[in-house]
Amino acid sequence: MFRLMQESDVDSVTQIENLVQSHPWTRKQFEDSVSAYQSTVYEENGQVVGFCILQPVLDEANLLLMAVHPSQQGKRIGYKLLDESISLLKNDPVQIFLEVRESNAAAIGLYEKSGFHQIDLRKNYYPNTDGTKEHAVIMVKSCTDDFSKLFK
Ligand SMILES: CC(C)(COP(=O)(O)OP(=O)(O)OC[C@H]1O[C@@H](n2cnc3c(N)ncnc32)[C@H](O)[C@@H]1OP(=O)(O)O)[C@@H](O)C(=O)NCCC(=O)NCCS
Repeated sequence: MFRLMQESDVDSVTQIENLVQSHPWTRKQFEDSVSAYQSTVYEENGQVVGFCILQPVLDEANLLLMAVHPSQQGKRIGYKLLDESISLLKNDPVQIFLEVRESNAAAIGLYEKSGFHQIDLRKNYYPNTDGTKEHAVIMVKSCTDDFSKLFK
């Protein structure tokens, strides 16, 4: 079940984040996200298994963060979560931006499947645990290309 994130989800979401990220968001950042952004979760059998945080900015939006619990990855949950989160945006965005580590093949694959494409590369942007840096791929999805929106 897809729904808006609530304060009671923050523990589960923080736990998922800590399992999947080398530099995870803090509990406080997730607490703030509940009201500051459009934060959503995907729940299965009463358990939160994924989350997606979008920041609407006028007629655009930024995808700030998303993740699916490692035990539930590869089941199209990420795809559904992102698709439903974008559909829920109230301001009918023209385009959605995101940045992602260049090595994150799973996320880039998901974003391409969801209609995003690369527009830039921000060099040496993300810190690695060994002190080196990694490039960020900047991607955009143009929502005006989305045929289904014509019938919304
Ligand atoms: C990125 C992530 C959210 C994808 O979620 P998921 O539920 O496993 O992905 P889905 O099953 O919905 O996959 C949808 C599409 O993404 C792509 N994809 C998913 N996993 C992939 C992988 N390991 N390698 C390449 N492409 C992949 C495929 O195109 C897939 O479509 P398909 O099922 O037709 O092959 C998940 O891997 C994750 O939580 N990663 C850790 C956190 C993270 O990196 N978040 C994003 C950056 S903030």
